[in-house]
Amino acid sequence: MEKRSDFVSLRDVSKHFGTVRAVDGVSLDIAQGEFFALLGPSGCGKTTLLRILGGFEASNSGSVHIDGADLTIEPANQRPVNMVFQNYAIFPHMNVRQNIAYGLRKDGLSKAEISQRVDEAVATVKLEGLGDRGSHEISGGQRQRVALARALIKHPKVLLLDEPLSALDKNLREQMRVELRALQQKVGITFIFVTHDQEEALSMADRIAVMFEGEVRQVDTPARLYEAPASREVAAFIGSMNFFDASVVGAEGGKIIVDAGPLGKMSMAPPEEGAPVKGEAVTVGIRPEKLTLGEAPPSAGANAIKGKLTAASYLGERNHFFVTVDGMDEPISVASQNSSPMDHKGWSEGGEVWLTWEPAGARLLRA
Ligand SMILES: Nc1ncnc2c1ncn2[C@@H]1O[C@H](COP(=O)(O)OP(=O)(O)OP(=O)(O)O)[C@@H](O)[C@H]1O
Ligand SMILES: [Mg+2]
Repeated sequence: MEKRSDFVSLRDVSKHFGTVRAVDGVSLDIAQGEFFALLGPSGCGKTTLLRILGGFEASNSGSVHIDGADLTIEPANQRPVNMVFQNYAIFPHMNVRQNIAYGLRKDGLSKAEISQRVDEAVATVKLEGLGDRGSHEISGGQRQRVALARALIKHPKVLLLDEPLSALDKNLREQMRVELRALQQKVGITFIFVTHDQEEALSMADRIAVMFEGEVRQVDTPARLYEAPASREVAAFIGSMNFFDASVVGAEGGKIIVDAGPLGKMSMAPPEEGAPVKGEAVTVGIRPEKLTLGEAPPSAGANAIKGKLTAASYLGERNHFFVTVDGMDEPISVASQNSSPMDHKGWSEGGEVWLTWEPAGARLLRA
């Protein structure tokens, strides 16, 4: 059977709290079985949008469909959806198995069936042998698995997860990313995962919606968001990028020619939404790792800029540099990979350096 690409469908959904536009005209289609992330800074409306999907919050306008059914005004308990909350919300007076079984017991299933489904869920989240432990006799990561199992045991069509890893320490968080992704692939349930951590979203999601101020500004795969951000704000939020003010001076052979001040003139692919017009103010964005640092001037014709090395840090697998350029307020950030220990050169700070880059490494963004 063909999987629906609009399995979860939001149309023009808005939610205002007084004058705050928490969610502002959001439309999204999420495919069946997709691992979908909502990513954005604190306060951008991620939790509100998730709560609208779960039926815990009523939108002021717009519609919510899941698997073709209009759920816009259905209450939470009538939706084929479960939510994993940030604070786990597992019951302290129940042991692991009782916590996982909770939703099924409320549904009035037989003891034997509940027991079998709990066994299954315990195995899915790898909690075998811990079923009789009290909720305070397990670790944070294990508690998070209990919360997951409790949501999965209901076999929802969609699982909503609100920053489920944020309370875990860094190592466990990174390990759980891999596990959660593997678990989602195994059960095949559509996951909608909220996070403000871009690395988390990039590493787990099939696609990501980037939100700012209640609006979805770009929906794309992790690689496209990184390589082809649609705007300066998205580019700055996903990884880091150097920005240079520029103005459009012309077009040639499908490329746009811009004058980027200290960087000089260069030709670049136009943004996908359409070519900017002559005279338009634009931004040239170059990620730190697209720049190459050298001590000698490059051959004629290459994109290059002369600067002064103001900081050099050895970070093990990579080096990071700051380079100041005459006429620019902000230093330029440069990163290079150390693929062997011998790659590291002892750069002397204060010296003259040259930065070069491939034309494809620079991106034209609307200012
Ligand atoms: N019940 C409420 N009453 C009033 N304002 C609210 C309410 N819930 C959320 N807001 C406001 O709506 C905006 C979006 O909040 P929301 O919780 O959705 O953000 P978020 O993206 O989940 O942020 P975080 O990453 O910090 O969890 C914020 O400005 C918040 O203060
Ligand atoms: Mg939130």
